[in-house]
Amino acid sequence: MRTETATAPCPPGPACRDVVSRTERRALVEAEFRRRYDRAPSLWCRAPGRVDLMGSHTDYNLGYVLTLPIGCDTWIAARPREDRTVCLYSLNLEAEASFGLDRVVSDPQARWSNYVRGVAQVLQTEGLKLNGFDGVIHSTVPMSSGLSSSAALECVTATVFEALGGWKLDPVNKALLCQRAENQFVGVNCGILDQYTSCAGQEGCALLLDCRDLSSRPVKLADGIKVVIGDTKSKRELAGSEYGQRRAQCEEGARRLGVQALREISLEQFNARERELPSEVAKRCRFIVEENDRVLKLGAALKAFDRQAIRQLTAASFRGACDLYEIGAPAMHTMTEAMLAAPGVIGARQAGAGFGGCLVAFVEEASVDAFAASVRHAYFAATQTQPEVYLVQAAAGAGLLPQTPDAPDAHHRSGFLTASIGKTAARHSPHPSRPGRTHRPKDSIIRNPEPN
Ligand code: GLA
Repeated sequence: MRTETATAPCPPGPACRDVVSRTERRALVEAEFRRRYDRAPSLWCRAPGRVDLMGSHTDYNLGYVLTLPIGCDTWIAARPREDRTVCLYSLNLEAEASFGLDRVVSDPQARWSNYVRGVAQVLQTEGLKLNGFDGVIHSTVPMSSGLSSSAALECVTATVFEALGGWKLDPVNKALLCQRAENQFVGVNCGILDQYTSCAGQEGCALLLDCRDLSSRPVKLADGIKVVIGDTKSKRELAGSEYGQRRAQCEEGARRLGVQALREISLEQFNARERELPSEVAKRCRFIVEENDRVLKLGAALKAFDRQAIRQLTAASFRGACDLYEIGAPAMHTMTEAMLAAPGVIGARQAGAGFGGCLVAFVEEASVDAFAASVRHAYFAATQTQPEVYLVQAAAGAGLLPQTPDAPDAHHRSGFLTASIGKTAARHSPHPSRPGRTHRPKDSIIRNPEPN
């Protein structure tokens, strides 16, 4: 089985507000595990979040996405149980949940646990043998921000069941089963992007994903280009958003154009037939067709360090997202303006489903700190909301962490803990049962950022 190699350390300075080492994070999780279950965990698993570099909403149109698995990840420390019960504790939420594997039902009171339950149910439907376990969950993927906290929880869950069950799924199948859990059990009709990235990510490179045949190839960004996230802190809810409506409009467009998916239409073909579509459907479809085209172009531009192309493609993507797909939000505009005015910026665009959440910028390596400081200052001045702005690096897909704390890479830093437990709190769940809690012990390794 694959074990994770370390994520590169974050450079010091304001680009990276609060970073804790993997050793510290591990100690926190292990202490909680011992407190709750009186024993040490015997298994450590992780799965990363992701940021899409280009390709908004192209996944369910069977198109391309350029996607980056990131160092923010979700961990489960586990120990098998003799019975068929799964006992969970979320450190972020300070919430527990348990369920029996013989009858997996969703829990409206502990909705965060439905991602785990859903994966359990789907894996069993596939005839896979599952073991009960005690688990403590901890995540550094911000919730409802467009960085795939849900997929990270699903994929780390599948990894735990895999390790305890003594079987192994290939990453693409694992991703498909996790997607099925989200579609059918949680009830969010998402595409494959998030789960694919979380399961199949490779350290050190982005993935150019083809959502039609589910193949991908690594894309290494040119040295000197860094990826920086700007979290607007304006939360979005995928299930309650217009995500489903956008998807239905794309499907209607494809149907009217006589193709299985919009991926099959070239820009030239679309230009010739656009008037066959109702106007709103036409706008949605135009965005997808153009965005799909931009994915391949951005991949080439990032490899070649073509600043002008990166700037133009990201600007066109953001414009299309706002004007044609209409997934913009005021906070996204403010963040984009702050990013585009900051030193070292090459280009910036939306991340995830839109409707708030995060923006992603390409930044000259030498200017990352100055960029982050400038964006924080400008965004806070405009909104009175403290954003999170941080560098991300490509991380490996879901797998095992070293099983002992003194394993060779245990001293490396991982992830970016940019909030208190309470703030990261509901990071597993789109519906936090206790939002805004910030009550970990004072010496907690997870610190609460102060406004500038
Ligand atoms: C969410 C969904 C993905 C994808 C993106 C938009 O993250 O889960 O499947 O559709 O939105 O690109």
